[in-house]
Amino acid sequence: MKVLVVGSGGRCHAIVEAIARSPKASKIYAAPGNAGIAALAECVAIKDTDVDKLLAFAQEKGVDLTVVGPEAALAVGIVDRFRAAGLKIFGPTKAAAEIEASKDFAKRLMVKYDVPTAAYATFSDFEEAMAYVRKGTLPTVLKYDGLAAGKGVVIATTMEEAEATLRDMLLDTKFGEGRVVIEEFLTGEEFSLMCFVAGRKICAMPVAQDHKRAYDNDEGPNTGGMGAYTELPFITAEDHEYAMTNIMQRVADAMVEEGTPFTGVLYGGLMKTPNGIKVIEFNARFGDPETEVVLPRLKSDAIDVFMAVASDEQPTAEWSEGATLGIVLASKGYPGDYAKGFAIRGTENVESKIYHMGTAMKDGELVTAGGRVMIVVAEAPTLREAQQKAEADVARIECDNLFHRTDIGAKAFR
Ligand code: AMP
Ligand code: GLY
Repeated sequence: MKVLVVGSGGRCHAIVEAIARSPKASKIYAAPGNAGIAALAECVAIKDTDVDKLLAFAQEKGVDLTVVGPEAALAVGIVDRFRAAGLKIFGPTKAAAEIEASKDFAKRLMVKYDVPTAAYATFSDFEEAMAYVRKGTLPTVLKYDGLAAGKGVVIATTMEEAEATLRDMLLDTKFGEGRVVIEEFLTGEEFSLMCFVAGRKICAMPVAQDHKRAYDNDEGPNTGGMGAYTELPFITAEDHEYAMTNIMQRVADAMVEEGTPFTGVLYGGLMKTPNGIKVIEFNARFGDPETEVVLPRLKSDAIDVFMAVASDEQPTAEWSEGATLGIVLASKGYPGDYAKGFAIRGTENVESKIYHMGTAMKDGELVTAGGRVMIVVAEAPTLREAQQKAEADVARIECDNLFHRTDIGAKAFR
């Protein structure tokens, strides 16, 4: 089978690697791919949102299956276009991807189908939003309704901050015309539960935990994710069962009932609060960097799993025992400004998997080329061993301009 993977980061690298393990893969293309992916797939210089070119390429090459990584490609309707052309593609339609693209859509769906989530209200008028905030308690959670690359969530701890944020979001149109979802502030441990979904048929992946803040102890600005691990001791089998039944299955069914059946990966960003597990957000795609720690544990043939979903059949997947832990190496300054082009050496001494996020080849040498540069993912029988292995391997990578968190997985040991 010829497979096309759309995307370019560490998540895409992990997807390509899972597909490369399948004996059914005769040829893998990645659009646009990256320097690490190039070792496993033929990278083609087409932007992930250029649906016309991607479709023409898939038709010309006789691609049997396309797997979509990034949200942006889903939001421009890549799945609808490929399906209309009779091509197999793994991912949700534009309408189903609304569960991620619109926070208001996701919230309305959850309320209608009794899916546990934070209490909320949606506003487009500044004065009305302020009146609601004044009546409520602090901190309060303010979410811009629309795609804002993870930058659209502010947890306001003072009334002044809430007012300034609402001004920004609703009056200054800094984020464009829009609405704001105001939510009850929840506390508890966050975790990610991704499921393969084909309409009502779902199949869980191992639970993972992301580390969104730039620095140790969850300090510093929000990022695209600084590390992740699988096997969360604080999520019990009962928690998992509850989340599958009352959240993931219920939402898959709800999407069918609403006339927008979901296909692809439904990502539940969940929180274990003192009042039970609740939804923080949904994504309509593989999570990053969760995918980089989850897919290495996929024992089943990845092409079978993706093909089942793309064909609206029940997906099934077996996972290896043990744990995985991934540490992101990022350019100093990220998520703010950073310089590029620094040589990266020593990767050949690393035993763990390395997924490239933002690298390039320059004069035959691997160099930094993005904010998040690579993720080092260790697998081991226990999380402790995976952590030690990942840390030892990170120390083997030499580069003058990288930093990483030293506490990935720490919440599992508290
Ligand atoms: P989101 O973009 O919706 O994932 O929000 C980004 C981050 O804000 C989440 O990962 C949480 O850490 C935090 N957050 C979002 N909503 C809430 C909430 N209702 N209560 C507490 N924290 C939240
Ligand atoms: N890890 C969070 C995300 O993929 O959005």
